[in-house]
Amino acid sequence: MALEKKITIADLRKHKSAGEKFAMLTCYDATMARLQQAAGVEVILVGDSLAGPVLGLPDTIGVSLDISVALTAAVRRGAPLAYLVADMPYLTYTNPDQAIANAGRYVVEARADCVKVECDRRLLEIIRAMATAGIPVMPHLGLTPQRVGQIGGYKVAGKTAEMAIELIETAEMMVEAGATALLLEAVPPEPAEILTKRVDVPVIGCGAGPGCDGFVVVTHDMIGLTEGKTPKFVKKYADLATPMQRAFEQYVEECRNGTYPAPEHGYPMSDEEIAALKQWAEKQNGK
Ligand code: KIV
Repeated sequence: MALEKKITIADLRKHKSAGEKFAMLTCYDATMARLQQAAGVEVILVGDSLAGPVLGLPDTIGVSLDISVALTAAVRRGAPLAYLVADMPYLTYTNPDQAIANAGRYVVEARADCVKVECDRRLLEIIRAMATAGIPVMPHLGLTPQRVGQIGGYKVAGKTAEMAIELIETAEMMVEAGATALLLEAVPPEPAEILTKRVDVPVIGCGAGPGCDGFVVVTHDMIGLTEGKTPKFVKKYADLATPMQRAFEQYVEECRNGTYPAPEHGYPMSDEEIAALKQWAEKQNGK
């Protein structure tokens, strides 16, 4: 069912306390945003995962702040009612002043409701500074793809009890520092569920099992537009690549064989005007 009123963090907290799960999807343009709002998607994320589907990059490292802010503003125009989260790109939040200035662009220029930052315990003071400055911030814990160069691959986080406890403690520190919500990526379901029950902010899972308050996946993965492998936690709800490809092929064929454009696709002239035009053309040919 379509969203009917603006979703706020208070609504997401209400969902959490009522035990009502909510949906979050990635989105990078106004058209998709309009469709997601019409489908009732409460939370929209302009993820730095735009790197692949929008920019054709191999990973998220090359996403620029300007592009990300511009696409966040486009998504906001398409979905004015959704709770809009913007993902801060690589190296745009390395110290409190830089993080606050850059996050401010999403909130002020693009009208995002919240910014998401990939982090671990070392970024605690940056999160605290952002929250203190009045920026709603969502720490992204667990698998953090912007650190793939340090981690050495895309690995599940919190797999041992010791790592899971560290993750839970870090998340609780983030909440204490002022985090508005949390996102957990590629974490086993048990620590995700324990954490979700222990904190009063909404916890959104991306491959973190059913115990979280909300769930997010990359839209291109779930509608079948991603080429190649998608993460294990993605469920494919449609295969839109096939009908899109078919439509493009049919268009090419019809352009070539003269089926398109047909008379109904043009702007007609009156018979008198056509006659006058033809007369002029004949005269020109006779010159
Ligand atoms: O960039 C992104 O889309 C994300 C989600 C996968 C959580 O961070």
